[in-house]
Amino acid sequence: METYAGGSTMPESETEPAVPANPLPVAELHLHIEGTLQPELIFALAERNGIALPYSGLEELREKYEFTDLQSFLDLYYANMAVLQTEQDFADMTRAYLERAAAAGVRHAEIMMDPQAHLSRGIPLEACVNGVASVLATSREEYGISTILIAAFLRDLPEDSALEVLDRLLAMDAPIGAIGLDSAEVGNPPSKFERLYAKAREAGLRLTAHAGEEGPASYILEALDLLGVERIDHGIRCMDDPDLVERLVDARVPLTVCPLSNVRLRAVDTLADHPLPAMLAAGLNVSVNSDDPAYFGGYVDDNFAQLTAVFELSDFDRARLAANSIHSSFASEERKAELLEELNGREATA
Ligand code: ADE
Ligand code: ZN
Repeated sequence: METYAGGSTMPESETEPAVPANPLPVAELHLHIEGTLQPELIFALAERNGIALPYSGLEELREKYEFTDLQSFLDLYYANMAVLQTEQDFADMTRAYLERAAAAGVRHAEIMMDPQAHLSRGIPLEACVNGVASVLATSREEYGISTILIAAFLRDLPEDSALEVLDRLLAMDAPIGAIGLDSAEVGNPPSKFERLYAKAREAGLRLTAHAGEEGPASYILEALDLLGVERIDHGIRCMDDPDLVERLVDARVPLTVCPLSNVRLRAVDTLADHPLPAMLAAGLNVSVNSDDPAYFGGYVDDNFAQLTAVFELSDFDRARLAANSIHSSFASEERKAELLEELNGREATA
């Protein structure tokens, strides 16, 4: 039996720090590695690669982090990728994320990267894949974080482009465990990518897709029924469709929710308006993730801390979210058992 042991009655201390010094062990399932590029690293890589940035300094760059919707963020996210030129750049970015994630309590991370966004800038596929993968190969030993690399495809590009890149990834035996679907959602429904997902499934890859972030609940249905995804990234718009909620609850479909992202991209007005408590109350299998932490004001621990402050989440709620993240991962059953044991041991002594 699962135990989320013991947390439900522990009172919140008034002096509890905003970010707990000893965060719960979690799996991060929704993370774009390019969204971990911190402003300082952007400037450092620009200098190393002799790239002129269109900002005079950190302050001017940070002033751009006021987003009105997903597209306004994507414009900056893709522009800043210009500093990623060499395998070393991708490796350095990945190392910086793992170091911060370890401090956030992340023990397992499923990391998306956007190969098409680099290929279109003339970066060789090998540079981006090998740069990230070379660091992930030793992430367990170096950071205590097991990892899976997810090739994410840009839904605002044609399906043929995605199919070609997937073929190349398979031909080079890239160490990817899953595919995802991201970028501009509205107007680019999952139905556009049926062949891509069929091919990935045939290749033995696990399947996830962004759906119901800005797009309608019907995109979540399409991702399930037409793409056969095992997990939905975001999925908050399911709350518009009670029948869909019932189906997601019954099938325990994981939803990788990213609260601070939803606030910063104006999918919700404020964190207090976020549907996470209603999703938990409905019995949905939700986890908490950071999406693009360098752009949205926080890593997984920051998301937990702010949710706890706004919604007065109990220890039980936090442990449930942590357990959901582990159960919903593509990790081996053995790794999941190890992480659940760590979580339950922590809870029992918390
Ligand atoms: N790419 C990076 N972050 C994304 C997000 N939140 N939604 C869609 N595509 C993305
Ligand atoms: Zn995302």
